[in-house]
Amino acid sequence: MDLTQNLLMDIKKLDIPESLAFLANRFNGKLIFSSSFGWEDQVLTHIIFSNHLPIKVFTLDTGRLFPETYSVWSRTIERYGKPIDAFYPDTELVGNMVSRKGPTSFYESVENRKECCSIRKIEPLKRALAGNEIWITGIRAEQSLNRETMDAMEWDSQNQIIKFHPLFDWSLDRVKDYIRENNIPYNSLHDRGFPSIGCAPCTRAVKEGEDFRAGRWWWEDQNKKECGLHATKEK
Ligand code: ADX
Ligand code: SF4
Repeated sequence: MDLTQNLLMDIKKLDIPESLAFLANRFNGKLIFSSSFGWEDQVLTHIIFSNHLPIKVFTLDTGRLFPETYSVWSRTIERYGKPIDAFYPDTELVGNMVSRKGPTSFYESVENRKECCSIRKIEPLKRALAGNEIWITGIRAEQSLNRETMDAMEWDSQNQIIKFHPLFDWSLDRVKDYIRENNIPYNSLHDRGFPSIGCAPCTRAVKEGEDFRAGRWWWEDQNKKECGLHATKEK
């Protein structure tokens, strides 16, 4: 059995705060949680901060987020009084791209869109993850067909880190109930048809019956719609 399968066995009978505490102990605090302030992330932020778990929380501020996302970010800091580390794109890389191609090059081709995601998310992500052994995310299996094929814990060979998705088996209703029961601040866009929220120019609301991620990079083919943060299935 490999490491991730062993770890899953170790935490099998534990609830989420206990699992995170176990992993924080086992990996000497080298755990980091990425938040985009979506409702799944807000559940995990609540669990981490209210249990005072020794887990760092960070966000990738691409520079193109919705005002509503900055608002929930502020409300989260007010509510918990704990730091959320902000990582930014390299100014030279982003400056070169925008100077050469303009501020909305991502609409012009998949290649340009991937270049923008790479500069605004992937490169800062690498800096955020450096020195850590476990990367915690708010991914749920239900979010997309690709994500259904993942595991709650997996080895990310691209970033050389273990990824753990504590809410992997949660339904959206369970997430919403948890938010309501614990009065957790959440992004108001969720009440306006945005189940999945990324950068403002690349996210739209979805219609009744549409897929969770239909509003992300909506102008592209279905099978291209991951930004590279969670692109591949790794075992
Ligand atoms: S994405 O790859 O399509 O952008 P998605 O929005 O579904 O990802 O979010 C899945 C998980 O990726 C989140 O729960 C969070 O852990 C992480 N994530 C996504 N965007 C960001 C961001 N801007 N900053 C930090 N973490 C993020
Ligand atoms: Fe750029 Fe859009 Fe990717 Fe954000 S989601 S980094 S604006 S291409």
